[in-house]
Amino acid sequence: MRIEKENIVIRSANVDDAIQLNKWWNDGKVMEHAGFPKGLGQSLEETIDEIRNWEGKLSQLCIIEIDGKLVGELSYRIKGDGAVYPGWKICDSAYQNQGYGPQIIKLLFEFLFTDNNINSKVPINRIIWDTMLENKRAQYVYENKIGARKIQIKENSWQDQLGNWRSSVDYEIRKGEFLNAR
Ligand SMILES: CC(C)(COP(=O)(O)OP(=O)(O)OC[C@H]1O[C@@H](n2cnc3c(N)ncnc32)[C@H](O)[C@@H]1OP(=O)(O)O)[C@@H](O)C(=O)NCCC(=O)NCCS
Repeated sequence: MRIEKENIVIRSANVDDAIQLNKWWNDGKVMEHAGFPKGLGQSLEETIDEIRNWEGKLSQLCIIEIDGKLVGELSYRIKGDGAVYPGWKICDSAYQNQGYGPQIIKLLFEFLFTDNNINSKVPINRIIWDTMLENKRAQYVYENKIGARKIQIKENSWQDQLGNWRSSVDYEIRKGEFLNAR
């Protein structure tokens, strides 16, 4: 897939992105928000395998480029019931807090709800994602800039890499809610 708007590009990852993805995934500062404060500790070969595992599927692993620079990644998993489970991170901190996150998320949602290839196979009706309770910036962005509905807070619902119990906040947006709010 490829989405392009002004200086933002979202495109499917390929093996040429492996070195950059491997750096990010092994960086505890980048991965903390996903529960891996020590990073994934993944070899380059494992990263290449993971990229290859996403290839040729409706669900995709993608790279985010701004001004031609690789600044982050996102992925989305499409389920047969029309729900999509995405995740995203602007990994290059110089590109955080610049207003890019909401633009990227809205471009992705518009694509998921309207792309003919995806919707002819699985009509997408809702997008569901979560964040950590501590990630107040993400919650602020989802509630105030995306118009997402907070579904529930799941207290102590999962253990991070260090064995600490963590809480998550679930969000959802339905096709009609998103398209009508544009
Ligand atoms: C979360 C993320 C997508 C947000 O995108 P972004 O481009 O940085 O967000 P924006 O610049 O549009 O907005 C950030 C807003 O959060 C606010 N903010 C910053 N820190 C905050 C905090 N601790 N609590 C509440 N709000 C905060 C800012 O003031 C700003 O709001 P404003 O524009 O009204 O002043 C992005 O920062 C990111 O990818 N972060 C790293 C990984 C991550 O957290 N991914 C999401 C996991 S679910």
